[in-house]
Amino acid sequence: MKSLLVLFSYHHHNTEKIANVFAKVLDAQIKTPQQINTEELQEYNLIGFGSGIYGAKHHKDLLDLADILPQVTNRKAFIYSTSAFTGEAKVAKDHSLLREKLQSKGYMIVDEFACKGFNTNSFMKYFGGMNKGRPNAEDLKHAEEFAQNLKQNLQKK
Ligand SMILES: Cc1cc2nc3c(=O)[nH]c(=O)nc-3n(C[C@H](O)[C@H](O)[C@H](O)COP(=O)(O)O)c2cc1C
Repeated sequence: MKSLLVLFSYHHHNTEKIANVFAKVLDAQIKTPQQINTEELQEYNLIGFGSGIYGAKHHKDLLDLADILPQVTNRKAFIYSTSAFTGEAKVAKDHSLLREKLQSKGYMIVDEFACKGFNTNSFMKYFGGMNKGRPNAEDLKHAEEFAQNLKQNLQKK
């Protein structure tokens, strides 16, 4: 199984910490959307697409990449993010634009991961930020379990 992680993480490199854990478990390379040559994506059985959540969606560079991806047939992908606020319904909504774009290109979204990330956006910086220290050791453990699970399920098939 050959895996790739596409990542855009700039605010506090929160999502990068999660991607690093995924990369280790899945033995995957991490690339920014700018480093992706859409033709080379054919080599991969599984691609993870992730960033922080900015304005209730993934980063524009990741969404723009999804727009130019060639059509595929049932290629497996997963979506991940870190954000100030989480919760099942909120994450599902934050992920929806990227999910719809990837699905429209033929990607099968096999799973999704989200956790809280340190946030000093806007007025939060005056209060020392929110979610200080996140992702924490427990978040990273959840990320590891998520990736192990993905790996096991994909190897079964
Ligand atoms: C410009 C900006 C907009 C943000 N918008 C949201 C948002 O709409 N919802 C949310 O839950 N968090 C929001 N956040 C918080 C980030 O999602 C959070 O800090 C995330 O962990 C950043 O990931 P990164 O460090 O990988 O860039 C925003 C942060 C920034 C800087």
